[in-house]
Amino acid sequence: MLQTIISRLLASTKGILAADESSKTIQKRFDKIGLQSTPETNLAYRKMLFTTPGVEEFLSGVILYDETIRQEIDGVPVPQYLEKRGILPGIKVDQGIVDEITTGLDGLSERLTEYRNLGAKFAKWRAVIVANQEDAFIEKNAENLAKYASLCQEQDIVPIVEPEVLMDGDHDLQKCQEVTAKTLKTVFAKLVGQGVVLEGVILKPNMVISGKDAPNKASPKEIAEATVKTFLEVVPTQVPGIVFLSGGQTPDEATENLAAINKIGGPWQLSFSYGRALQDEALKAWAGKEENVEAAQKAFFDRCKKVSLARQGKL
Ligand code: G3H
Repeated sequence: MLQTIISRLLASTKGILAADESSKTIQKRFDKIGLQSTPETNLAYRKMLFTTPGVEEFLSGVILYDETIRQEIDGVPVPQYLEKRGILPGIKVDQGIVDEITTGLDGLSERLTEYRNLGAKFAKWRAVIVANQEDAFIEKNAENLAKYASLCQEQDIVPIVEPEVLMDGDHDLQKCQEVTAKTLKTVFAKLVGQGVVLEGVILKPNMVISGKDAPNKASPKEIAEATVKTFLEVVPTQVPGIVFLSGGQTPDEATENLAAINKIGGPWQLSFSYGRALQDEALKAWAGKEENVEAAQKAFFDRCKKVSLARQGKL
């Protein structure tokens, strides 16, 4: 079961849309278009994305937020609507960060059962690491990721394991490389220690990339070389796939960097699970107005198509 879901999520021309912004984060996105987030406006926005004609050609899965998995599109529950389109529904299960540690293990087993009954086939847990993170926090976050992954596998839900080294700061590529390597090493040690089947997880990491405010930004080629080299050192080959987050890269940057990574390739599928990089242009075109839905869907479709080509190393 886990393997069937994984093969579908990692299909060679497709990737994942992260549409699992929490209530706080979606408001931050809506601030850019001057819109108040409510369950209704959140649904209107996500409906615009999910009903985009033809987008199933590029999307294997969508990560949903707790609110969205319980909503309906034209009378059909969102997870079933997506499945009918051939897109697998997933669910964000972490519950925010307290003192630098991602929380959400309390009652997780029960919540996973509920989400599975609602139709979720995979889950996501995100840990956040800053460039100068103390080791103890990396350890604790990695431990929680491993416990989460183990609980998911017990219930036949594919865990997406997301340790994100943030782009915030002026650090260079080398610094990102060091922190990413240390983080991933710790995460895999904890996953193995927890008895997680590595063939049954998908890794969602940051690319090895310069900090947002770095004076000299690395090129897509340098990013791709550093990313693949680092991952070859620390990501076991049993892991079937790596789906990158976009983490604040522009849509064009996230597309070009993924293409450069796939031109090099590796022993794993190298795909995407983008939030902002897939949505930014569509959100701007939509601007909260029904009359803009068609233009927004066109922007979304075009970006999904480009990122799908990048995922195949074709751009
Ligand atoms: O957890 C982060 C999201 O799933 C990915 O979002 O591509 O905007 O970083 P992003």
